[in-house]
Amino acid sequence: MTEPQASPPHDPDAVPVSEVAAEDVSRETSGDDDQAVDTQGDVSRETEFDTPIAREAAQAVHVLNVRQESWPAPPATRVLTVANQKGGVGKTTTAVNLAAALALHGLRVLVIDLDPQGNASTALGVEHTVGRPSIYDVLLGGQAIADVATPVDFTPNLLCVPATLDLAGADIELTSQVAREYRLQRALNTFLDHDGSFDYIFIDCPPSLGLLTLNALVAGREMLIPIQCEYYALEGLAQLLNTVELVKSHLNPALTVTTVLLTMYDSRTRLADQVADEVRAHFGELVLNPVIPRNVRVSEAPGFGQTVMTYDAGSRGAIGYLQAAHEIAERGAASSAGASEQPGGTQS
Ligand SMILES: Nc1ncnc2c1ncn2[C@@H]1O[C@H](COP(=O)(O)OP(=O)(O)O)[C@@H](O)[C@H]1O
Ligand SMILES: [Mg+2]
Repeated sequence: MTEPQASPPHDPDAVPVSEVAAEDVSRETSGDDDQAVDTQGDVSRETEFDTPIAREAAQAVHVLNVRQESWPAPPATRVLTVANQKGGVGKTTTAVNLAAALALHGLRVLVIDLDPQGNASTALGVEHTVGRPSIYDVLLGGQAIADVATPVDFTPNLLCVPATLDLAGADIELTSQVAREYRLQRALNTFLDHDGSFDYIFIDCPPSLGLLTLNALVAGREMLIPIQCEYYALEGLAQLLNTVELVKSHLNPALTVTTVLLTMYDSRTRLADQVADEVRAHFGELVLNPVIPRNVRVSEAPGFGQTVMTYDAGSRGAIGYLQAAHEIAERGAASSAGASEQPGGTQS
């Protein structure tokens, strides 16, 4: 595997979202709702709030906190491509929940769904039936991102460019197109030239290294790699980083791996710790300090067309994503990485 890229400066004094949150997502606490008592003997949050009223009260407090606090904006729009060619590692969950957390804290965010499954669109409650204007029309119909971006209903700060099943054939359809790797980059640069108000753009990639993911890597400035704390987690990472290097040297010199997030962490397994340690040893400071616990609330949320941030703001999963998003915002505000040139400067 290649060495990690230079990371943006990290503020060691960055405070956690809240004291409560910090305790709840500590790596010692239990990983899932299913487990009432963790190995340290602490009662889990879900047991603590085991009556509906207590849970609702706790949720209300969290939601209130979420809406009151403003997080710092980066100096320029940060475009993060969320990629890992492995399926089911938490790409979509990460993209939508980080986006929601940032948007709920006053930042302007756009999520671009680049997976024909349209899971990000589903989780954000954005309609994505076949034929509706979507990212397909941007990539293959020359439509503007601004024309297909749809506001989500829980905050005016968050928009989503949906993906429909029309995108399923796009990998093949793109093959014969001129500048096929640059389609998304061009559309995104046009969008950003017209509207500089966005703080964060997340591109949710499909589980492959085909032309769709390639478009995302060429369009992004930063790459966010979610890594699932499971046995085969590191398998395929070398290939992914190799692809990033190829894109960097041939198509998008601006691309940098800036963020790695450990997802679906289960404190009951020693394996999760081993994977986490290995990832931290390899990627160093690029790995966000908060880890996302495995939590049933996270997996339930999309079934209700929601992110876990809105579905159960007091759950461990929501708090994990809240803390991760907070760290991203703090790093982004402290870094000049976001102020770098738009990709495309060297393109002929
Ligand atoms: N922290 C978590 N705890 C429990 N389930 C999760 C968590 N993160 C993701 N999931 C579930 O795992 C599955 C795969 O996640 P997803 O984000 O769709 O991965 P990808 O986009 O990489 O394919 C989904 O069903 C999702 O709801
Ligand atoms: Mg996905």
